[in-house]
Amino acid sequence: MPINDAGNKYALVYTESGIPTFRHLATQETLHGQVGPYEEAQKLYVESSAIQTKNGKCIVYDIGMGCGAQLIAMFHAFLANKNLTHMTIVSFDLEKEGLVLLWQNKELFPYINQFTHILPMCLEKNHLLVNLEDGRLFEWIFIQGDFVQTLESEAKYPYADIICYDFFSPASHPQLWTYNIFSKLRERVKEDSLLITYSSATCIRAALLASGFFVGMGIASGKKARSTLASPTAQTLKELLPPEWKNRFARSQAQFSSLEKDENKAIIKERIATHSQWDL
Ligand SMILES: C[S@@+](CC[C@H](N)C(=O)[O-])C[C@H]1O[C@@H](n2cnc3c(N)ncnc32)[C@H](O)[C@@H]1O
Repeated sequence: MPINDAGNKYALVYTESGIPTFRHLATQETLHGQVGPYEEAQKLYVESSAIQTKNGKCIVYDIGMGCGAQLIAMFHAFLANKNLTHMTIVSFDLEKEGLVLLWQNKELFPYINQFTHILPMCLEKNHLLVNLEDGRLFEWIFIQGDFVQTLESEAKYPYADIICYDFFSPASHPQLWTYNIFSKLRERVKEDSLLITYSSATCIRAALLASGFFVGMGIASGKKARSTLASPTAQTLKELLPPEWKNRFARSQAQFSSLEKDENKAIIKERIATHSQWDL
């Protein structure tokens, strides 16, 4: 979907409770309108990922980098968990407008915190390797471009352990929530990886199931409904969608992204009917 005349830019705004955040001008969507960007990133993405219990090397996809809340929350989680020796965050976005605005207003966003010295480097480069004082390694890779094309491309980046999927809603950007997208993404993630997204939309859960993921419930996102978790391995998820979910899907008026292709709608229906998740 082409970006409208507002361009892919953000404006500084305040939530109802006075927390500074950003509004994306093209979609008029406010980043995490209730609690503000960092608290949402911390609660929804960091805590759901259980990154504080991991060790060794960890690859995180920050899909829809925006104003960097997930990127920075994940970096702080890495600092806190000394059992992680190497963290790579791969951020995806059309460009760095959100990071630029964050940097310009840094005094309003104390969440930048220990990322203050890294953020200017992110604005300058697309690949960073930062040695921490304790010898651990932080790596950041920025993959610029339309995510639909990125998934079709030969771009090289490592396979994910944790995927934070934070694009604007299917109503605003239906092309980013289709069967094709999640099928391509499925090829880029590890078998025990965990995908986290704020949305509870039926069409998203349906496309994920059809693309080879098991799908479960996550925590409530802001004041909204339960978020969605997905993994190629059922055991990674604590609370799978129950078999009755199939009935909800059958009754739904919004089974598919508005840009879902007809042939893929048939695939989604068929795969949901026969998914092994319902036999567990
Ligand atoms: C909800 S915002 C992400 C907020 C972000 N996670 C944060 O912590 O600030 C969604 C982001 O997706 C990006 N985006 C929109 N369409 C895109 C596309 N086709 N490909 C890649 N990125 C896209 C927008 O530029 C925007 O920054």
